Amino acid sequence: MIPEDKKEEVKQAADIVDVIADHVKLRRSGSNFTGLCPFHNEKTPSFSVSPSLGIFKCFGCGEGGDVFNFVMKMDGVGFEEAVRTLAERYNVVIPEKTEDQYDPQQYLKDGIYHALRFAGNFFYQTLAESDEAEYAREYLKNRGYPWKTVRKYGLGYASDRFDGLLKNAESAGINMQYLHESGLVKAREDDSGFYDTFRSRLMFPILNPSGKVIGFGGRTLSSDKKTPKYINSPQTPVYNKSDVLYGIHIAKNEIRKAGEVVLVEGYTDVISMHQAGIGNVVSTSGTSLTSGQVRVMKRYGDILLMIFDADVAGVKAAVRGISIALEEGMSVRVLTLPEGEDPDSYVREYGGEGFLDLKKKETGDFLHFLVGLARKEGRWQDPVERRKSINEILEAIAVMPDELSRANYIQELSSTSRIGDRALLQELDLIRGRMEKSRRRTAERTAMRAGRELQDSRRPSESRPGTERDPGSNSGTGSVSGSAHAGHASAPRHEGTGSQPAAAGKQGISARKGVALSPHRPAHAPRRPEYEKELIRLMLTFGEKIIEFVGNYCSEDDFEDTDLRNCYRDIMMRYQEGEPVSVETYSRREHPYPELVGEIVLQRHWVSEFGMKKRGVTIHRDANPVNTARGSLKSLKIRYLERTREKFLDKYAGASEDEKAEIQKWIRKATSEWNRYRQEPAETLFPDI
Ligand code: GTP
Ligand code: MN
Repeated sequence: MIPEDKKEEVKQAADIVDVIADHVKLRRSGSNFTGLCPFHNEKTPSFSVSPSLGIFKCFGCGEGGDVFNFVMKMDGVGFEEAVRTLAERYNVVIPEKTEDQYDPQQYLKDGIYHALRFAGNFFYQTLAESDEAEYAREYLKNRGYPWKTVRKYGLGYASDRFDGLLKNAESAGINMQYLHESGLVKAREDDSGFYDTFRSRLMFPILNPSGKVIGFGGRTLSSDKKTPKYINSPQTPVYNKSDVLYGIHIAKNEIRKAGEVVLVEGYTDVISMHQAGIGNVVSTSGTSLTSGQVRVMKRYGDILLMIFDADVAGVKAAVRGISIALEEGMSVRVLTLPEGEDPDSYVREYGGEGFLDLKKKETGDFLHFLVGLARKEGRWQDPVERRKSINEILEAIAVMPDELSRANYIQELSSTSRIGDRALLQELDLIRGRMEKSRRRTAERTAMRAGRELQDSRRPSESRPGTERDPGSNSGTGSVSGSAHAGHASAPRHEGTGSQPAAAGKQGISARKGVALSPHRPAHAPRRPEYEKELIRLMLTFGEKIIEFVGNYCSEDDFEDTDLRNCYRDIMMRYQEGEPVSVETYSRREHPYPELVGEIVLQRHWVSEFGMKKRGVTIHRDANPVNTARGSLKSLKIRYLERTREKFLDKYAGASEDEKAEIQKWIRKATSEWNRYRQEPAETLFPDI
């Protein structure tokens, strides 16, 4: 959406050292800067910034890229938002969306955000100033929340009037349609207007990772058993219950540092934990954990610590969350609190230190926890029930995407259950086979449904959002907001728990979102081969001569890493067209080139090399780049031939007799080539051209 030249202008204007220095204490080191990495915990600096290239790189955790990447990672925002943030800071004017880019959905969202922000301020003011909220202020003080905390979390109060917010919003010029779409007011039955959704409640604004208010939770302070304790915003275009995490905007940096996210149940658990100094805490706000929520967490950390209370019944319902997190590739740990405690009460009694002690002593991995649970229920002691428990555990292991982790947990299960790992692995294979089948069936069905929906949506007579919602509409906002019309009293306590079939449609939406939300290379992606990086580095550093040389001996198929393969192709193309190819040009290109260049050029030894140069030691690295290229080409070719062989071996298994003979020939050929490349010296393999 942002024009290319504007991106370039922002990038030129933004001083990467200046931007990073807001978060990291940087020290000059030659022409670069170093400091403690803000993305992981470290004591010695391995974070390096190169102002001349406009890139940063951490040698500890591998994060790196240009100034946009830094803002994206630091603020947890998308590319466009990062560009706009920097544009604002460096006074680059980016045109607002022009008419032909007008996106009604975005327009609606902006209106809703505006209404929500107004409401957040209004509730806060009411809590701060109104006489009616005196008892709420008292309540918060008694719970141990000083005003500083109230301000930090933007807590507020909704008065008991039916039009408290409504009237004020109206006179402030807030558009009623947006107020209604945000779920803050509801339409009266007789269509005579609107009334406030939240009344006589302590308000917890819910913010997205970049700090925008997207909804509210409201707690009653009355002890009347008929009022639900909490009510939440309904599903809206900006509030999708299945990917909301309360506290994420505050917790995200701590999660990043710790690599771990602590998951609790309630709003007050989050606030009290943060207040006790444990910052990496978020909550699902009473719903059961969804994959959308896990994907949000995973942007910041890979380890999930789930906190359960001691009561078995409650835990049973939460166990499903374990598999959901495992399925998304998180390592799951579990901490069970003593009887009758929740995280809020625990830290209030024992403080943050007390919690950390407990955590150290009592945290176990999910397998340990599930076995413990089966023991508590008496299932582990009975042979038949135990068999069933083991199967349930195997099902949890089966969803883990990473083979090595599965193998580790099978070992652990084998030693706990004293069942041989071969037997367990066989069972695991069966389960995975079944899963795969059902996954395929679901995918087919989803595809069919999507096809039908597409057809439906193409039919004419589409009514665009008025103030009235059409319950049967496919607009994606109306169809899931049925709960907005349900009366408070009938609202189920933990709505959403176990309503799997009804959620199927929404799941699809959040799944797509999840993909779009993570444009970065996943943290667990395999490392790129060094020799491939080295070849690209040499081509970028030395230009023509090396490009000719490397291009003469290899083709893009030789590259195993997708990004590097694309980069190689791109370099060759540019070179052939006579365009400049250098580290500078590529670090100013679009994504993902700046990250790649950072990864390739700022190698770990490069830093120390620099230090040595300063001390007057001459470095002989790259004294003969052609020779360096030869070594890398050799590795590249050997690996390529290995892959070719593996491919043929795979084919061999399923081939007919005739094909088998043919494939054998190819395998022999690949093998002899492989041997040749391994045995002959690089100079003979790749003579000067
Ligand atoms: P405090 O009692 O103030 O400490 O709140 P809490 O967060 O500890 O409440 P509780 O442990 O009872 O519930 C945990 C979370 O579940 C809450 O933070 C809410 O998000 C959610 N929840 C609790 N009661 C209700 C309810 O009646 N309706 C809905 N929709 N959610 C609820
Ligand atoms: Mn509580």
